[in-house]
Amino acid sequence: MSARVIAVSNRKGGTAKTTTTVNLATALGGRGWRVLVVDLDSQGHAGLGFGVKAAPGQTTVHDVFRGAGASLRDGVRATASPNVDVLPADRAFEGTATAPPLALAAALEPLAGTYQVVLIDTAPTADALLVSALASAHHVLVPTILHHLAIDGVGQFARSFFRVATTLNAGLHGLSILPVQVDLRVTMQREILERLAVQFGRERVLAGIRPDVALAEAFGRQQPVKEFKPRTRSVEDFELLCDNVISKIIKAER
Ligand SMILES: Nc1ncnc2c1ncn2[C@@H]1O[C@H](COP(=O)(O)OP(=O)(O)OP(=O)(O)O)[C@@H](O)[C@H]1O
Ligand SMILES: [Mg+2]
Repeated sequence: MSARVIAVSNRKGGTAKTTTTVNLATALGGRGWRVLVVDLDSQGHAGLGFGVKAAPGQTTVHDVFRGAGASLRDGVRATASPNVDVLPADRAFEGTATAPPLALAAALEPLAGTYQVVLIDTAPTADALLVSALASAHHVLVPTILHHLAIDGVGQFARSFFRVATTLNAGLHGLSILPVQVDLRVTMQREILERLAVQFGRERVLAGIRPDVALAEAFGRQQPVKEFKPRTRSVEDFELLCDNVISKIIKAER
């Protein structure tokens, strides 16, 4: 069985891409799925969320974009979360990609037999690295805050998605929207949620993640929230997200 690759992306910054990657990976790992987190954002936050940082000279996912023909397996590091490994970012990487858009997909291919799920955390940009992530993925998860710009942001993102799906990666066939910081007592949030469902398809909008300060606190401790505070409400929300990802993304698209 070859890994299902899910990119976690949104061009907008601060929409919980990294929080989603770290905590969804932990939930999946807890259910026994073997998960690789690929930290494609040179901020290196997905790695830090597990307390993992590449030392100078160690292999990182960004080696792919230096055209050196890197063996990414050398960079893979275990985490304290069961069944979750991380391929860290190069926090010194500033350049744009010099490699062709399918180089990342090719470099990840040898790892696809080792893992059942690969989650790629991406930077809040629409650059060559995002194209590489989409070119490697089967599905994209788009975390979004429920304010008015969300519709526009997801719409713009959907255009990048369709461009890659029709030109580079015929295997990219799913997009799901993950509402974050959800508070349905707020009328505007209910309205935006409904507009997202109407515009992009109700089946594409997943059950969301409620506001929970423990997520930020856990990140500060370099731990997934489930390890930091197992009884907090976001743990429940990420377990439900995990159920939905397994049934609607990992199994349904096989
Ligand atoms: N459900 C939530 N409740 C409260 N705070 C949250 C929630 N989700 C994320 N946050 C906080 O929001 C901030 C941004 O989250 P995060 O770093 O995951 O976003 P990002 O999309 O990866 O950002 P960037 O675009 O910089 O990569 C963090 O401080 C995080 O702890
Ligand atoms: Mg991030």
